[in-house]
Amino acid sequence: MTVSIVRRPNALRGVIRLPGDKSISHRAAMFGAIAEGETRIENFLFGADCLSTVACMRALGVDAAAEDTSEGRVLVVRGVGLDGLREPADVLDCGNSGTTMRLLSGLLAGQPFLSVLSGDASLRSRPMARVLEPLQDMGAHVHGRDGNRLPPLVLGGGGLAGTRHRLRIASAQVKSALTLAGLYADGETWVQEPANSRDHTEAMLTAMGAPIAADGTTVRVRRPDRPLQPLRVRVPGDISAAAFWLVAGACHPDAEIRIEGAGLNPTRAGVIDALRSMGADITIDRARAEGGEAVGDITVRSSRLHGAVLEGALIPRAIDEIPVLALAASIADGDTIIRDAAELRVKESDRITTTAEQLGRLGARIEPAADGMIIHGGARLHGARCQSHADHRLAMTLAVAGMLADGETAIEGADAVDVSYPAFWKDLARLGGHQRVLTAEL
Ligand code: S3P
Repeated sequence: MTVSIVRRPNALRGVIRLPGDKSISHRAAMFGAIAEGETRIENFLFGADCLSTVACMRALGVDAAAEDTSEGRVLVVRGVGLDGLREPADVLDCGNSGTTMRLLSGLLAGQPFLSVLSGDASLRSRPMARVLEPLQDMGAHVHGRDGNRLPPLVLGGGGLAGTRHRLRIASAQVKSALTLAGLYADGETWVQEPANSRDHTEAMLTAMGAPIAADGTTVRVRRPDRPLQPLRVRVPGDISAAAFWLVAGACHPDAEIRIEGAGLNPTRAGVIDALRSMGADITIDRARAEGGEAVGDITVRSSRLHGAVLEGALIPRAIDEIPVLALAASIADGDTIIRDAAELRVKESDRITTTAEQLGRLGARIEPAADGMIIHGGARLHGARCQSHADHRLAMTLAVAGMLADGETAIEGADAVDVSYPAFWKDLARLGGHQRVLTAEL
């Protein structure tokens, strides 16, 4: 196990180049595999989750390799076309990655061969009925452990029929799985969500020439009658990674952090709206479009935050950022209420319980609720020993908490950050964070 020890720096200043967006990296690798020809992906996130996707695509017969170029490391995927995937010889290991497992479920349900998907202990406890049930409605032969609720999953056989799906929860993973299955179905597939989740799948497949239409909260897709076009993608910086520095900068008394090349897709940028509604001093400049996605540079400065109510359509736009927003709310003046976020219970850890407990060790006062939390602000955090629960976003939230707390904070399971932000500890040190790493401590 790796333990990181973090202390508060006197000042927090510097420039951050973000890792590539995790959601877009997964999609570029997976969709590139079913295009015809070479997809080049710049700023691909070479983190554990996206590498699980790459390993699975290779096991399905796709050639994917990293190339070192003057633009940095590029992932090159040689697409085999819509009907070119091959039956894998072994179980596909999705590691810790829900996105890999859920998106692949939709893609593989439509193939004329058998696939088995599994992953680590956390992923094997995450709910899969949300994907398997609508796939079964399309006629798919899909099975899972515990009455089709949990991985490992067994999929394949094809013979799908276009179906109308009305999702009970906004989920980009479920929407994307059904959209991918729709590429292999007879007739039109509809997916309607109660609120908009991230739209990277629709945007990228449209750019590749797939017959797909997105209108409000509905996506419609049919089987393409010509090959999908390979893309040259430049993956924007991950706003979910930026969130940690936004909170660190807003809450530290002497901070100015500039974050370059952040993805600002409106379906993802809820963390900026939430922090601004709490009084954060955040400015955006050089707003531009890169590869069909909004991108900009963000500057955050020390701010006096106050509590807010975070709920409704904002939640799917900030779902992965709620743990670090809970940290900001603990330091803000007054109370913050987070609701409509029951999905947090089924992420890499039960993030309502783990966030409340672990930030609680540092003195935060967070009351868990069934679908969110009540956070009593005004806490003066103190260093403590805490635990990431092998959850990357919790590990980084605790590290930021340690940068804001009196004394020393020890984070057990600090290597969990590799899932989405392998350079996190280096960036923390570069911004002036005091940090020591102890490895192999049992
Ligand atoms: C993701 C969608 C979200 C998010 C996850 C990545 C994606 O999950 O929490 O980290 O890439 O589609 P849900 O779609 O299940 O809400």
